[in-house]
Amino acid sequence: MNDTLRQRVAALRRDLDTHNRAYYEHDAPTISDADYDALFRELQALEREYPELQSPDSPTLRVGGRALEAFAQVIHAVPMLSIQTETDTEASGADHFDARVRKELELAETALPIEYLAELKFDGLAVSLRYENGVLTQGATRGDGVTGEDVTQNLKTVRDIPLRLRGEAPPLLEVRGEAYMRRDDLARYNEKAMARGEKPLVNPRNGAAGSIRQLDPSIAKSRPLRFFAYGIGAVEGWTLPATHGELLAALAAFGFPVCEHRAVAHGAAALADFHARMGALRAQLPFDIDGVVYKVNSLELQRRLGFRSREPRWAVAHKYPAEEARTKVEAIEVQVGRTGAITPVARLQPVFVGGVTVTNATLHNEDEIRRKDVRVGDTVIVRRAGDVIPEVVRVVLAEDRRQGTEDSPSAAALPSRGDGRQPPYELPKTCPECGSQVVREEGGAIVRCAGGLVCPAQVKGALIHFASRRAMDIEGLGDKLVEQLVDSGLVKTPADLYTLSASRLAALERMGEKSAENRVAAIEKSKDSSLARFIFALGIRNVGETTARDLARYFGKLDALRNADTETLLNVPDVGPVVAESIRDFFAEAHNREVIASLMAAGVHWTEGEGQVDAPPGVFSGKTFVLTGTLPTLKRDEAKALIEAAGGKASGSVSKKTDYVIAGEEAGSKLDKARELGIPILNEAELLQLINTQESEKP
Ligand code: IVH
Repeated sequence: MNDTLRQRVAALRRDLDTHNRAYYEHDAPTISDADYDALFRELQALEREYPELQSPDSPTLRVGGRALEAFAQVIHAVPMLSIQTETDTEASGADHFDARVRKELELAETALPIEYLAELKFDGLAVSLRYENGVLTQGATRGDGVTGEDVTQNLKTVRDIPLRLRGEAPPLLEVRGEAYMRRDDLARYNEKAMARGEKPLVNPRNGAAGSIRQLDPSIAKSRPLRFFAYGIGAVEGWTLPATHGELLAALAAFGFPVCEHRAVAHGAAALADFHARMGALRAQLPFDIDGVVYKVNSLELQRRLGFRSREPRWAVAHKYPAEEARTKVEAIEVQVGRTGAITPVARLQPVFVGGVTVTNATLHNEDEIRRKDVRVGDTVIVRRAGDVIPEVVRVVLAEDRRQGTEDSPSAAALPSRGDGRQPPYELPKTCPECGSQVVREEGGAIVRCAGGLVCPAQVKGALIHFASRRAMDIEGLGDKLVEQLVDSGLVKTPADLYTLSASRLAALERMGEKSAENRVAAIEKSKDSSLARFIFALGIRNVGETTARDLARYFGKLDALRNADTETLLNVPDVGPVVAESIRDFFAEAHNREVIASLMAAGVHWTEGEGQVDAPPGVFSGKTFVLTGTLPTLKRDEAKALIEAAGGKASGSVSKKTDYVIAGEEAGSKLDKARELGIPILNEAELLQLINTQESEKP
């Protein structure tokens, strides 16, 4: 080996690092992806051929190694604290924090304002990076703050995390910050993922958290993760600067991305000002934030203030309200759901809120419309929190509106009244899809189309459900095709699916011969089912996947379920009077019996009695979970959705029937009860791991 080689390797590393930095830190790629790959491969080849040239900070190591069985535990030398949340989203939220700090420090009213450093609160996953003699040796998640997971391989694939510190590095430095995804990166990633037929990532936060927790580092590598440093953990042989602001500057000098949106602020008013400024900027930021963070700037004062139950007294997260925007209601329409539920929806003038352009917002139900008195032509405030469906918060009436922008062409076309508004909205009396009567459920807020399976909207909904992955699992039978099949009159009931021929399908618009054949094969394949799936696929009201599973297990045979009386049904775990009645009503309907008979005649089958033993359709099928406390990354709804997506059930209270308790921070009596009953307790990471490993084991 000669010096030329050594120099070439060094040059390749330097160039790759420069291109990386240009791409990630300055958002200005200096080289095409293909050229980058070529340099990368050249370096990889040289290192493979001359192992003595290998170096722990080589960019090639960002590929990560092989997949792990499970993550090793990391005990944080300095615990990773959480942060107190100020839920008062107004300016007064900053006052509360400032007043608390002043009180703790026993400052007189006349004392000078406290100096703070204000930062953004990034919405990703907290990680800790350990550098020994300047080289990244370990990366860990926060976990419960005391113990995290060793995710070194995954973090090494994050291209803006330095593998080696720039400048003179101390013997030990732990850097803490947030792994996150930019919205545009996520969108680009999702586009490609969907083109490959993969599932898109739900949102940047889940995307970041999910990627860091992948056991296979090549998956993390394929995800566009980034990093912002905002603090430190253990340090040896380095004199800390005097302030947090200087600390951030030092981290930037070591080569870490530190977010530019940060400011020194003296006193509460300056904090509130930062909160307001960043609030105004929020929608334009390329990444999600859910608030700002205030930290006492002096590290000496931080030490004096100390901690209270794992939260520093010197920092607070000041949140933002869910993003809202003002727009106009162009029309109010109703949607008919799978079960015939009629949901009023406001069609809006497109408005950008919460990172997306919103054109529809739910008005929930008749009572909500009446309470909010939303009418066509009204100016309204819409809100979008996280991934939830946008909703209309309230109407802005002329008197509290600064500018009169209420005239839209569509509203002007309608006869208006004295106050300039349209008359109160009334739900239609008949279903817009099939003209059947619309009935309001006794005691409920929900209004339903009584048309049942004569209503095309309900037929389509029923078919989509029937074909879905956890039901009959008919690949390629999505919304679009169902729509075509019903509209063309080819399919009226699920049983009709089994009479379709490839030539019939191929006659449909945009359906090639090959894909028609594939669909027919997928339909054929679905005939081999299980009782639990079949019961679930029927779409009996109030019978979800878990209940279907319980019913299959209890009855073992479809006939036994079909003929069961209420009393027998009530013996099934978790079946109460409402569910029992839904089941009885379903089987009492002649049409439903006919469809079932046709399905069986068409060859849909399973092994009778198999329901009691067969493998669950979801990894958590039949399992009941209780969530308690605050989870580190998942919101409660999200955790619940994940559990349900895996076939489990999330219940509100701990009992002997509970299979797992998922505990986060400040878990209270439910956790005590779980311990008392000896129920397994998992943290969020363990929950996600359980879901991920089991998901990936599936064919
Ligand atoms: S400081 C002193 N700064 O918030 C408390 N945390 O901490 C240590 N977070 O999941 C955290 N942006 O990842 C700090 N600028 C910021 C932050 C931040 C986001 C997250 C952090 C953790 C949560 C609670």
